[in-house]
Parts: sequence; C-alpha cells; structure tokens
Amino acid sequence: MLLLSKQRASRTLQCLFFFLSLLLLPCLPQPLPAPSASPSPAPAASATTTLPLSPFNDRLEAAYVALQAWKHAITDDPKNLTADWCGPFVCNYTGVFCAAAPDDPHILTVAGVDLNHGRIAGFLPDHIGLLADVALLHLNSNRFHGTLPSSMQHMRLLYELDVSNNLLFGAFPAFLTSLPKLKFLDLRFNDFDGELPDAVFGRQLSLDALFANNNRFNVSLSSQSLTNSTASVIVLANTRLAGCLPPSIGDMADTLVELILLNTSISSCIPPEIGKLKKLRVLDLSHNDLAGELPESIGDMESLEVLNVGYNMLAGEVPEAICELPRLKNLTIAGNYFCDEPVSCLHVPLRDDRMNCIPDWPHQRSPEECIAFNHRPPVHCGADGCIVLPP
Ligand SMILES: *[C@@H]1O[C@H](CO)[C@@H](O)[C@H](O)[C@H]1NC(C)=O
Ligand SMILES: *[C@@H]1O[C@H](CO)[C@@H](O)[C@H](O)[C@H]1NC(C)=O
Ligand SMILES: *[C@@H]1O[C@H](CO)[C@@H](O)[C@H](O)[C@H]1NC(C)=O
Ligand SMILES: *[C@@H]1O[C@H](CO)[C@@H](O)[C@H](O)[C@H]1NC(C)=O
Ligand SMILES: *[C@@H]1O[C@H](CO)[C@@H](O)[C@H](O)[C@H]1NC(C)=O
Ligand SMILES: *[C@@H]1O[C@H](CO)[C@@H](O)[C@H](O)[C@H]1NC(C)=O
Repeated sequence: MLLLSKQRASRTLQCLFFFLSLLLLPCLPQPLPAPSASPSPAPAASATTTLPLSPFNDRLEAAYVALQAWKHAITDDPKNLTADWCGPFVCNYTGVFCAAAPDDPHILTVAGVDLNHGRIAGFLPDHIGLLADVALLHLNSNRFHGTLPSSMQHMRLLYELDVSNNLLFGAFPAFLTSLPKLKFLDLRFNDFDGELPDAVFGRQLSLDALFANNNRFNVSLSSQSLTNSTASVIVLANTRLAGCLPPSIGDMADTLVELILLNTSISSCIPPEIGKLKKLRVLDLSHNDLAGELPESIGDMESLEVLNVGYNMLAGEVPEAICELPRLKNLTIAGNYFCDEPVSCLHVPLRDDRMNCIPDWPHQRSPEECIAFNHRPPVHCGADGCIVLPP
C-alpha cells in the first residue's frame, strides 16, 4: 500500500512538471526581460557575443579580494580616490581599469591601476599579487611605505611599474628581474638600498627604461653589467656607482638614448668608446670626480642634444668637434679646469662654462686656483677607463 501510494505521488508530480513546462515553454523564444535585481546567475548572458563583457568572473573576484585588502592597508587617502572601492564591480573603482584579458578576449580583467599623485598613505599588502592581470601599475607620488611584496611576481603581464616618489625601502625587489613583460621600471625617489643586481641590466629582463635615481642603491661598474643593458633610458642619478666608466659603454650604441649618471661618485676617465653612442641624445655625467680630458670622439655622437659634464675635474681644451655637433643645444662644462673653449662653442644656444680656467673669460676660477691645479701631476687614463695614479 505504502509503496503504491508513493508511486502514485511521484506520478502526480511528474504530471505537474509536464504541465508546468507546457505553460513555460512558450515564454522561452520571447525576448528576455531586462535582468532583474535578484542576484540569480544569468546563463543566457554568456550565450551572445554582442553583450558587453560580464563584470563577473574568477579573475575579477580575485582582483576584488586584492583591492579590498589594499584598501584596508590604506591609512590616509586625502583625495578620497579609494572611497568608491566598495562592492564587487571593481571595474568601476576610481583608478582601476579593466580590459579584455590578452589570453581570452571574452573575459574582463583588471588591466591597470593608476593612483598617481594620490598622496595616499599605507602599504602594499601581500594580496596585491592577486592582481595577476595588471599591465600598468602607476603609484607615483603617494606615501606607500614598506617593501614591494614578493607576491607581485605573479603579475606576469606587468609592463609598466611606477612606484616613484613613495616611502618604499629594502633591497631591490629581486622578483622584478623575472617579470617577463616588464619594460618600464621607475623606482626613483624612494629609500631602496643595496646592490642593483646585474640582471637589472641584463638582456633577459631587457627593460626599455630604468629610473633608479634618488635611492641608496650601489652599482658596481666594474662588473660591466650596466653596459650590457638594452634600455633606451638609464637614470641612476644620486646613487652610488663604484668603479670606472668602462670602454664597454660603447656596447649600448644600438639602444641608448638617455644616460643620466649625475652625482654618482664616479671617479674615472671618460673612455673614448663613448663616441660610439650615436643615438644618445642626453648625457649627464655632472657632479662626479671625472678627470682627464673630454674625448674628441664625443664629436661623433651625432644625436647629442644635451651634454652636461659640469662639476668634475676635467681639464685641457674642449674639442671643437663637440661644439660643432648639429643638434647640441645645451652644453654645460662649468666647474671644471678647462683652459680653452673654441669659438664654435659660442653658437650652442645654452652654454654654461663658468668656473673653469679659460683666460680672459668671465666667471672663471681665480688664477691661483688654476695654477695650483696645473701643478698637479697629469692624469693618465688606463685601458679600463680608470684614472692611473702616478707611481
Ligand atoms: C573626502 O571625504 C571626506 C569624508 O567623506 C570629506 O570630508 C572630504 O572633504 C573629502 N575630500 C575630498 C578631497 O573630496
Ligand atoms: C558602473 O558605472 C556606470 C556609470 O557610473 C553605471 O552605469 C554602471 O551601472 C556601473 N556598473 C556597475 C556594475 O556597478
Ligand atoms: C653601498 O654604498 C654605501 C654608501 O652609500 C656604502 O656604505 C656601502 O659599503 C656600499 N656597499 C657596497 C656593497 O658597495
Ligand atoms: C653581458 O652579456 C653577456 C652575453 O650577452 C654575458 O655573457 C655576460 O655575462 C653579461 N655580463 C654581465 C656582467 O651581466
Ligand atoms: C648628491 O647625492 C647625495 C646623496 O647621495 C645628496 O646628499 C647630495 O645633495 C647630491 N648632490 C647634488 C649636487 O645633487
Ligand atoms: C640645460 O642643461 C642644464 C644642465 O644639465 C640644465 O640644468 C638646464 O635645465 C638645461 N636647460 C634646458 C632649457 O634644458
């Protein structure tokens, strides 16, 4: 009996479903109504490709976790940039940019975060590594302190990293050298220290631009790793470079456009091989301890627009070929011991030749200073670019 009634009940249910489905079927071909506010999943949304990309997927969910953790790590946000970092729709957050994933055009991902000039205080939490799809991370001029978390090694698409002008410290983040897409690295104006690893300049990382200036980095020129670089822009100003400018500096001829080594404690000669850098437009070697003469070969650097060798201990004559460079528009030789400057230099639009030993020329060093300098033993330059001390 019991068994029979159960069977009957199930048969009744089957009938009910059948009639229900008959009732519902005619609705299906009709256009779907506007999505309701209920959070039920909408399987039909993925069926057509004309709809905008869904703001829901696993990668955006991971980004949500990352951005919420980040928001928690923020202690002050004077411009309220992260005030709208609420809710799961991360693509609408201020400073967050979504785009189709390069590996799957049907999936929306967080492709960039730009909080430049936010003056935000806080730190970068480990969860930031969940932003695995970011290509651009621009955090310049904030007050983020601490280190760059190693979880950022998961940002395999990272192309531009700008954390300049923050309060970051610690050793150079080693994981950066294994990011396969990184081209633009800007760490300037932080408090990083220690050695810049050779790999920063290596061909495996192959950065296009490196800004490491105004940190406490040490770079050893004697390993010659710097000159292996294929970057077009290298700025190491106000850091500490040990060793001499090596003749291999000419090896960067195919790529180097801007080299800024101002105030880097280099004690060296300028090797004539520097003349091979025919693409170089800006060369700043000022505020160092460079000695010897300016090599004539600088006159071969046909792209040179700005040359600053000011505030060194260079002497001799300024080679005429340098002042005849067709694009040279800003020449600084001030603060050296040059004894002559050819007339052609007067045609360089911006020129600073103060504080040298050019006779009968305004704003030069005192005759006593120049005589004292001339009584020093002459400088000899070794094959390695170093100053050879007299025996
Ligand atoms: C940020 O939000 C706070 C509180 O809501 C408000 O007092 C302040 O004026 C806002 N600042 C800016 C720059 O909008
Ligand atoms: C994102 O912002 C736009 C414009 O402010 C709004 O129309 C849209 O509904 C928002 N999207 C979500 C998912 O909140
Ligand atoms: C790095 O430079 C600092 C000074 O800024 C110096 O004290 C330290 O010995 C240097 N370290 C190396 C490894 O050269
Ligand atoms: C420079 O590059 C060459 C290969 O291109 C490599 O053998 C050498 O080890 C590199 N030197 C440094 C110091 O990285
Ligand atoms: C050179 O750099 C040091 C720090 O490394 C800084 O204290 C000094 O002011 C800089 N000098 C110039 C001329 O920029
Ligand atoms: C010219 O060069 C000097 C020294 O590098 C620099 O201070 C100055 O800003 C430059 N002027 C222009 C107009 O670029």
